Amino acid sequence: MALKSVSIENFRCLESVEFQPDASNNIVFGENASGKTSLLEALFFAGRGRTFRSVPPDSLIRDGCQHFQLVATVQRNERPVVLGLKVGKDSRVVRIAGETAKSLGELAEYLPVQVIDPDVHKLVEDGPGGRRQFLDFGVFHVEHSFLETWRRYQRALKQRNKALKTEPRAASAWDHELIQAGVSLDSMRHAYVQALIPVASDWVEFFLEGELELKYRSGWAADRSLAEALEHSRQRDRDFGATLVGPHRADLELRVHTRVAKGRVSRGQQKLLASALLLAQVELMETHAGPGVLLLDDPAAELDTVHLARLLNRIQSLGSQRFITGLQRKDLAEITTGAVFHVEQGKLRRVL
Ligand SMILES: Nc1ncnc2c1ncn2[C@@H]1O[C@H](COP(=O)(O)OP(=O)(O)OP(=O)(O)O)[C@@H](O)[C@H]1O
Ligand SMILES: [Mg+2]
Repeated sequence: MALKSVSIENFRCLESVEFQPDASNNIVFGENASGKTSLLEALFFAGRGRTFRSVPPDSLIRDGCQHFQLVATVQRNERPVVLGLKVGKDSRVVRIAGETAKSLGELAEYLPVQVIDPDVHKLVEDGPGGRRQFLDFGVFHVEHSFLETWRRYQRALKQRNKALKTEPRAASAWDHELIQAGVSLDSMRHAYVQALIPVASDWVEFFLEGELELKYRSGWAADRSLAEALEHSRQRDRDFGATLVGPHRADLELRVHTRVAKGRVSRGQQKLLASALLLAQVELMETHAGPGVLLLDDPAAELDTVHLARLLNRIQSLGSQRFITGLQRKDLAEITTGAVFHVEQGKLRRVL
């Protein structure tokens, strides 16, 4: 899967951008505020239906406009498929191969896209929500039944929580569905983590010269089944008016044992650790769903020259199409193949 052509209209500072990316590397360089992150964000939105920054979707619409529009042609199993999105303040239309899609989530199947941006360390540093999202994105591309199971679980959880707030005795009516979907979700995540561990360990060893310890925590006590954990938590759930155990409380426990700091990492190491996890996910995804799209936003600003060179060299072995931004072309001198674009005041121009 690779992007063959892209058209962006009224997305942040990008008024009208059209280009044909290279299937391997695409370097995008330009001054501060020229539109580099905006370009990556538009590509991310085309695959995920959301942004990777914590901003409201409305702020993505170019000032003074009513909506933004993205059209991306992806090469999928030898066939081109056109994805189209038109997003206004209160409206969203998604079209896939000429058909209106039911949800933004359908895009992910056609355009698997992953990003490493200056906030990447949040995957390690912040709360478990981001790590669950990371995990579930990986599982989604491996297990076809994931999305349906996840939706079933979320529906049961929402109903159970609603009952806990209004009519606690009725809450147990949702236990059966919650347990069925929850156990299935848990085993899919568990299997995914087992597959991820060796790939991620390899990337961590390469970037950090350390040993990765990665553990999946289900969201309830390991010595109980989900049914037992729910039973055990029943009174507390009633007191809190919410379900306190289950896959929605899961987490990935991460540790790196290096000679420098056993079990502790600096901000720079957090960035490398998070990047290693994301790259491992991309690599694993390639083996299951085929190559996707990898976005790297200004890696030269985040990493020292040794680690930057390591990163840029190693990603050349991935099959996924790459978009890499930088302030200057020479910041990304390690990359010698593919296309080079210059961006200036929201205008993109191919220079090589
Ligand atoms: N909704 C919007 N409408 C118009 N312009 C916007 C909108 N949102 C953001 N911008 C502007 O887009 C410009 C480009 O932002 P972007 O983050 O893409 O720059 P960048 O090239 O990544 O810069 P840096 O090197 O500093 O990271 C900024 O000046 C920003 O203020
Ligand atoms: Mg930027």
